[in-house]
Amino acid sequence: MRQPSAKALLFVLTAGLALDNAAAAGDRELGQYLSSECVTCHRASGQNAQGIPKINGWPEDQFVAVMNAYKDKQRDNPVMQTIAGRLGTDDIAALAAYFSMQK
Ligand code: HEC
Repeated sequence: MRQPSAKALLFVLTAGLALDNAAAAGDRELGQYLSSECVTCHRASGQNAQGIPKINGWPEDQFVAVMNAYKDKQRDNPVMQTIAGRLGTDDIAALAAYFSMQK
């Protein structure tokens, strides 16, 4: 009788991990660098200043989706549209990776 081999299981596990890493490909150091602009409005403490929402601790995929919504002008805020419009896919991924780690 053939058991599912440990090797095969290991392969599935590591393949899954590799995929995770690929999905979370945002470069956190780049994100930290880019974040200096953001935190002039979005406080680093995560607390709201003048109704500006906090962006710390968001799941990365949600963060990316929201930034793309501004970029594509589906979400209506001129300031954020301009800011997101200047950012490339890698920049947004990097920011998502960075802010997701902030409390
Ligand atoms: C000049 C001030 C300002 C700067 C700089 C700024 N933002 Fe914003 N941001 C805002 C405001 C105001 C909103 C709320 C807009 C709205 O109501 O849609 C917002 C909304 C957001 C949201 C959605 C938050 C939510 O709860 O829906 C995200 C994500 C975001 N900003 C990310 C960023 C990132 C990343 C940067 C830096 C690259 C940045 N912002 C720079 C003012 C700013």
